[in-house]
Amino acid sequence: GYALWMRYVPVEPALAATYRAQLSDIVAPDATPTQRAARAELERGLAGLLGTAPPMHAEATQQYAVVLGTPASSPLLAPLHSEIASLGPEGYLLKRVQRDGRSVLVVAGQRDIGVLYGVFHLLRLLQTGASLDALDVHESPRVHLRVLDHWDNLDGHVERGYAGRSLWDWQSLPEWKDPRYTDYARANASLGINGTVLNNVNASAWSLAPAYLDKAAALAEVFRPYGIRLYLSARFSAPIELGGLKTADPLDPGVQRWWRDKVNEIYARIPDFGGFLVKANSEGQPGPQDYGRSHADGANLLADALAPHGGVVMWRAFVYAHDVPADRATQAFTEFAGLDGAFRPNVIVQVKNGPIDFQPREPFHGLFGAMPRTPLMMEFQLTKEYLGFNTHLVYLGPLFEEVLRSDTHARGKGSTVAKLVDGSLEGHTLTGMAGVANIGNDRTWTGSHFDQANWYAFGRLAWNPHQSARDIAADWAAMTFSPDPTVVQPIVAMMMASREAAVNYMTPLGLHHLMARGHHYGPGPWVDGGPRPDWTSVYYHRADRNGIGFDRNASGSNAVAQYAPELAAQYGDLTKVPEPLLLWFHHVPWNHRMASGRTLWDELVTRYSLGVKQVQEMQRQWSTLTDPPEVERGSAPLPSPIDPQRSAQITAFLRIQRREAQWWRDASIAYFQSINDLPLPAGEAPPP
Ligand code: GCU
Repeated sequence: GYALWMRYVPVEPALAATYRAQLSDIVAPDATPTQRAARAELERGLAGLLGTAPPMHAEATQQYAVVLGTPASSPLLAPLHSEIASLGPEGYLLKRVQRDGRSVLVVAGQRDIGVLYGVFHLLRLLQTGASLDALDVHESPRVHLRVLDHWDNLDGHVERGYAGRSLWDWQSLPEWKDPRYTDYARANASLGINGTVLNNVNASAWSLAPAYLDKAAALAEVFRPYGIRLYLSARFSAPIELGGLKTADPLDPGVQRWWRDKVNEIYARIPDFGGFLVKANSEGQPGPQDYGRSHADGANLLADALAPHGGVVMWRAFVYAHDVPADRATQAFTEFAGLDGAFRPNVIVQVKNGPIDFQPREPFHGLFGAMPRTPLMMEFQLTKEYLGFNTHLVYLGPLFEEVLRSDTHARGKGSTVAKLVDGSLEGHTLTGMAGVANIGNDRTWTGSHFDQANWYAFGRLAWNPHQSARDIAADWAAMTFSPDPTVVQPIVAMMMASREAAVNYMTPLGLHHLMARGHHYGPGPWVDGGPRPDWTSVYYHRADRNGIGFDRNASGSNAVAQYAPELAAQYGDLTKVPEPLLLWFHHVPWNHRMASGRTLWDELVTRYSLGVKQVQEMQRQWSTLTDPPEVERGSAPLPSPIDPQRSAQITAFLRIQRREAQWWRDASIAYFQSINDLPLPAGEAPPP
């Protein structure tokens, strides 16, 4: 699993012969680190896919069939100058052109990084068995900041990480640059990810200490040729802890000076440093409100220090406090919506996809569409804190797609979240998408083979948030396992059904945050005496003898008012709210009649059981690959298209998932039954 989707295993012989003829002789400059990275990747990819890499030259030859480069690095590309320029600094084209009476394949960008992205695109075409005959690909990213957020602590522990320890070996940095850092950069560049935040949002001030900045600078050096800028999470109180100041008040001139000096110190080591990510006044973290100041005051303090260097502040809107009695789902909106227009131009507010916390299903966050004058950045979670860690197979592509395609109605119908994220709806040029990384030092990088797909899908959607999760899954499956349709098809079917399966066996019909407190792995819908009400599940499901669900209408927390009027009317109406969000917005009697004709209680039980069956179906689909049927009686079974190492882990993890889906179902049903005393619908087995 170490090679991720960049396995470059031999393609089928007939196809290899075609590709070899089309890619026979390559002109690729090698003067800069990024040019060398592009050339090396192509060499490595073609050697693996085609058996041997074709000859590569820095200058044009008689027979050249492929040209890599920029108009500046290759005179052969000068005629395409304006076409290439129109794709912007990170864009690229893959195109067949006629040169000297021959058809030549061009992989070109305005800058070297575009060429590297183009090389990865070309390799993807080969890995998925696509034709190179009539290529005419024009690509440029729709989103500018495409960033992984690592929740990595300086002691090597990864908060909510299920893939081993941190990749960053602080102890041996800066002297030792583990080759794995380069592979990490390659994997990200293959998707167009262009930023990485090294450390946890629950940040240690020490990440900004000189010794750690030296280490970060060494990583930045490895990442630079791959177009990846480095960012750090900043602890708001660092001027006190590191600088020995008495205050971290954003309006204090001494504090302002401290941040300016700190930022200068960083840029002296990392000239292309990206900026800061900040979690402030949330879950006990320090922030501007400690001094009676606003989030804008806090963000602007850092923005002013970064602005002369071109750095940005990604200020998180994931804020809530236990001493605020309001519905937790409403708190971020309450604190931020009124600050629209108050942030400096180099601040982008980073908003989680939903108003609670990365649940299997949430409505999109109401801030999307409510702050037209402020750039908003999407934050998705790739590490599956609430979706069965690394053992459960849950492909997050459909979750991301569902959120991105949600219509905010902010500027009338069709105002999707994707259009807010890519800046097109409000005309913002500072745009971004962050994924909380699921990466650690596990051999598979992500703790399981299928979790690699979540890193992959995030990167592809950050490049273009309008893409289809299914198409992305098909590419990933082809590159990771085999382009053979009889392999891709069942794997894509498993992946596409997996998220809904998890919703069903964990939190169907709009239920949320029923995971056991603290670790968030298994079920825990019961009262558990936690330290604060919004850390226990009963706060969210509100089940009683009469019904279940969180009333977020005017009669309840009125969270519906944080959406556009059309949506508020839909969400707030029991007869119109989409059933998948029913219990998110409404407290509903157990005998409420559902679209299926069943009562709510019967529907809930049916959903829980369906989730278990869906995992069983995933097991069955997987077994068609690992135990192919005998072709005819007496003949030997076909060899499995999946290698035994990966196959064994996936089979075992599916078994765990099957057992734990049942655990979720049984625990949830037994608990709710203890409250409503209702019988199970006919045919449903009682929990043991
Ligand atoms: C969740 C998660 C925390 C994390 C927080 C955040 O609450 O459980 O570990 O720190 O999100 O996003 O800041």
